[in-house]
Amino acid sequence: MLNPDKIKDDQSDFELDLSDPGALPEEAIESAVDLMRTGRLHRYGEYSGTEPHAALFEKEYAAYVGSKYAIGVNSGGCAMFLGLKSIGVEQGDKVLVNAFNLAPVPGAITHAGASAVLVEVDQDHRINLSDLEEKAKSSGAKALMLTHMRGHIADMDEITRICGENNLMLIEDCAHTMGAGWKGKFTGLFGDVGCFSTQTFKHINSGEGGIIITDDDDIAAKAILFSGSYMLYGQHQSAPPQEVFDRHKMHTPNFSMRMSNLVACVLRPQLKQMTERGKRWNHLYYQLADRLNSIDHVEVLAREESEQFVASSIQFHVRSLDAEKIQRLSERCTDRGVAIKWFGRKNPMGYTSQYHDWQYLEKQHLPNTDTVLSTTCDMRIPLSLTESGCDHIAEIIQQEVGALSA
Ligand SMILES: Cc1ncc(COP(=O)(O)O)c(C=O)c1O
Repeated sequence: MLNPDKIKDDQSDFELDLSDPGALPEEAIESAVDLMRTGRLHRYGEYSGTEPHAALFEKEYAAYVGSKYAIGVNSGGCAMFLGLKSIGVEQGDKVLVNAFNLAPVPGAITHAGASAVLVEVDQDHRINLSDLEEKAKSSGAKALMLTHMRGHIADMDEITRICGENNLMLIEDCAHTMGAGWKGKFTGLFGDVGCFSTQTFKHINSGEGGIIITDDDDIAAKAILFSGSYMLYGQHQSAPPQEVFDRHKMHTPNFSMRMSNLVACVLRPQLKQMTERGKRWNHLYYQLADRLNSIDHVEVLAREESEQFVASSIQFHVRSLDAEKIQRLSERCTDRGVAIKWFGRKNPMGYTSQYHDWQYLEKQHLPNTDTVLSTTCDMRIPLSLTESGCDHIAEIIQQEVGALSA
């Protein structure tokens, strides 16, 4: 809870950069330097049988998450594109996807030649199950790309039921849910494919990078071939047997979206820290949620008990302020060092998330999503944040909400 006496006095700005990704572990730095001394940054060796970091990382990631296979690629967006191609999405197919999303997601669907059918989201940012069920029946979609947007995990029992009953393939976009689960099962394992990102602002950081997980032999072989393995797929240690590749190797184009050894070598030490990182993020999340919920007009998004989230960001609604005031709130807090993103913003800026901005999609109207986003604010939680930093952030937000609602 906030201390009301302290709040009145402290008008100072917040000093920590909320976009601070934090230094990589020393082990990652040393590993990268050692690798650079060898020059073997490309994952495949044509003649010598080394143990490349990319293959080792894939094996370690599959073991971590409990999938049969993991395939490293060059970005989360490419993981989704390759996931769609590997499950058999073709030109002109329809793919259902949450309307509240990030640009690379409709981008990956478009890249695969499919058209995105947007589905409404609820107040808690999760996909609206009745709209999903209705559009699963009416659209003729082949697949659902389910983004666990900002780490909010839908009722996966219902999602798998709807997909099963409507013959929908399921790809989970887990860019915001590495290490997170639903009723004890990691996200990414509920459907045909799970996709992760290791871009700098995700749970582990290699600048750019992506991971595909699957339990399906054919999907795994196709994803490896599509990712650009040439005929060197045998160097993958997380891969189906040769006869599966024999079915696909002459029919699968090489899209050159490989993970490099340099990326993999900085990810491996970070993967070992995932459990600790998750605990720290959630501790900071609860500190912030408790303080923000005590501010008038502010309501942190509700979470269900079955969601085992890893909160690298926090979302809250600002009630009873109009759009202009919420925009000013976001600007005033940002000017004071508390970078708050407002998802109701009409002009795209930064990492835009408004479906209206993706005008290459067929025009679609999602009034509930518009209403939800019109009051939603979002803030990153860097691991370098402290408990007193959480107090200070909440004080600044309280002061600014107070000033705008006076
Ligand atoms: C929800 C979501 N999905 C997918 C991606 C794609 O990841 P990448 O940036 O690695 O392509 C992002 C990236 O920020 C994202 O936020």
